[in-house]
Amino acid sequence: MARDMDEFVEQVKESTDILKVISSYVPLKKRGNNYFGCCPFHNEKTPSFSVAPEKGFFYCFGCHAGGDVFKFLSLIENITYFEAIKKEAERLRIEMPQREKTPEEIERDKKKSELYSVNELARKFFHSALINTAYGRKAKEYLVSRGIGEETIAEFQFGFAPDSWDKLTLAFTARDIKKQTLISAGLAFVGKDGKTVYDRFRARVMIPITDIRGRVVAFGGRIIEKGEPKYLNTADTLIFKKGEILFNLDRAYNTIRSEGYAVIVEGYMDAIALYASGVKNAVASLGTAFTGNQAKLLMRYAKKFYFCYDSDDAGQNATIRALIIAANLGAEIFVITVPDGKDPDEFIRKHGKDAFKELIPKAMSLMEFRLQYVLKRTNYTTLDGKLKALREMLPVLAGVRNETVRLEYRKKLAKELMIDEGVIESEMKVTRLTSVFSESANYKRKAENRRESALDKAGRIIIKEAIEDESTIDYIKEILPLALIENEGQREIFQMLFENGCDYNIEALSEGAAAELSRAIVENYDGEKTDVYIDALKTFEKQELKIKLEKMGKELETVMANGKDYTGLLAELKEVKKKLDDLQEGG
Ligand code: UTP
Ligand code: MN
Repeated sequence: MARDMDEFVEQVKESTDILKVISSYVPLKKRGNNYFGCCPFHNEKTPSFSVAPEKGFFYCFGCHAGGDVFKFLSLIENITYFEAIKKEAERLRIEMPQREKTPEEIERDKKKSELYSVNELARKFFHSALINTAYGRKAKEYLVSRGIGEETIAEFQFGFAPDSWDKLTLAFTARDIKKQTLISAGLAFVGKDGKTVYDRFRARVMIPITDIRGRVVAFGGRIIEKGEPKYLNTADTLIFKKGEILFNLDRAYNTIRSEGYAVIVEGYMDAIALYASGVKNAVASLGTAFTGNQAKLLMRYAKKFYFCYDSDDAGQNATIRALIIAANLGAEIFVITVPDGKDPDEFIRKHGKDAFKELIPKAMSLMEFRLQYVLKRTNYTTLDGKLKALREMLPVLAGVRNETVRLEYRKKLAKELMIDEGVIESEMKVTRLTSVFSESANYKRKAENRRESALDKAGRIIIKEAIEDESTIDYIKEILPLALIENEGQREIFQMLFENGCDYNIEALSEGAAAELSRAIVENYDGEKTDVYIDALKTFEKQELKIKLEKMGKELETVMANGKDYTGLLAELKEVKKKLDDLQEGG
């Protein structure tokens, strides 16, 4: 079976034309052997996204995304690598060999697909109750009163759950759907008698909650008259985990990617109001606190998050928590505050859609928001209060990477608290920055450290040569000790090449290594190919000598300090130094 699978993957790989596939998403222009276009994975105006068709790789010199055609598909379609292979196989009509599933897997798959289809039926049931029935009229009026028109009702497939204990259960069991399936989907529950089954959603406006692929996985139901709770959501099921889904992400992810940022709101009514006003990159965190999983999910599409939570205390506290989670993962954070009204939905209803869009460029940075928040909550007329506020702000301040911006904030903070800037500076030095914010700064620093170093470039040139001419690998292995390669991704690639030759699998590499490999393959270098390669090898040779020299220098120091004979060591050192000088002169 496994063999068949390898053959299948191989066949799909061979039949796929990377240029054709990528061109259908990104306009490309030929330059030399490669094709260039604007990267679909980050916001840019000058093309730094490159495809090398005969090698089968793409790489973006701007955001470092890279890989083969399936990697591209998995990124742009938000599917796994293997799903991308299957997608291409379907398009090319290559049949996939079936792996035999365990009975448990079969059972689970069956249950899941039952849940998807019963949810889909429920969506239709609720929607039709809203649109076609007399008792749906009240719900429709409610939606209209909230400014939700027919177009939005259709787009989000709003529905109505009838004011009845068993309308859905009766209708569905009449269609041979098992009561147990309704219960597992969270659409019905067993009463106190232990056997009667009742509808879970009654007399509520229904909002289908869809996953990234648009499948209905749960519902939210809002009461239309007075009553508790205001919102009733499906509890977690086999296909729905609350903290892992963002409402509206299926409609929003393309815009999030193209705009370069996401707007995150608390309630789904807010996301819907924004969407209807033309802010198409808004998602809602579904009434729970924003989770790390949700942040990671969003990070696939954009690294900038604009939080716009309710303006009440609960909303502002939730914002702070969400910010910490997101900042910790390395996202760039902004906060939009709604000046009038409790939430974005109310604001839009009061002031119209353009007014909200005007709030976006006025969003506060994480730092400004924190400052406001801290100042609002501490009495900083006393010295104690000042120190308390300062202590809360220091980690945030330290997390600001940009020096100019940081100084600006320091000034602001000094002014607000009426303390000397020098005090802030010295406090900052003594504070051990163990806060989560400094971790986020570390993350950014790491990314910045990916700057070009001569060694990195040399490494890629050697990798490229190794892949283009497998016979060089043995030689490279002999002269290039792995310990000499500082770049972790490259070390991984070399190790793989040394072990498997060119018969490697890019999917076995870590994310960073796979991107580095793609870059090496796609990148072109100025100059005669052989010269470039030999220079690259020399760069490592020099590096090795430099390290050796440094070590010997230290040894020499100790020997001299101990008053021992150092003539032998000195001669050796001079020899190494000469070798290095010769190499440097040679270029
Ligand atoms: P809000 O009470 O602020 O609701 O709760 P909202 O979004 O403004 O709703 P409208 O505009 O009055 O219709 C914020 C979010 O918290 C969750 C929901 O996801 C809601 O959107 N929530 C609230 C619940 O899950 N259950 C509740 O009873 C209330
Ligand atoms: Mn609201």
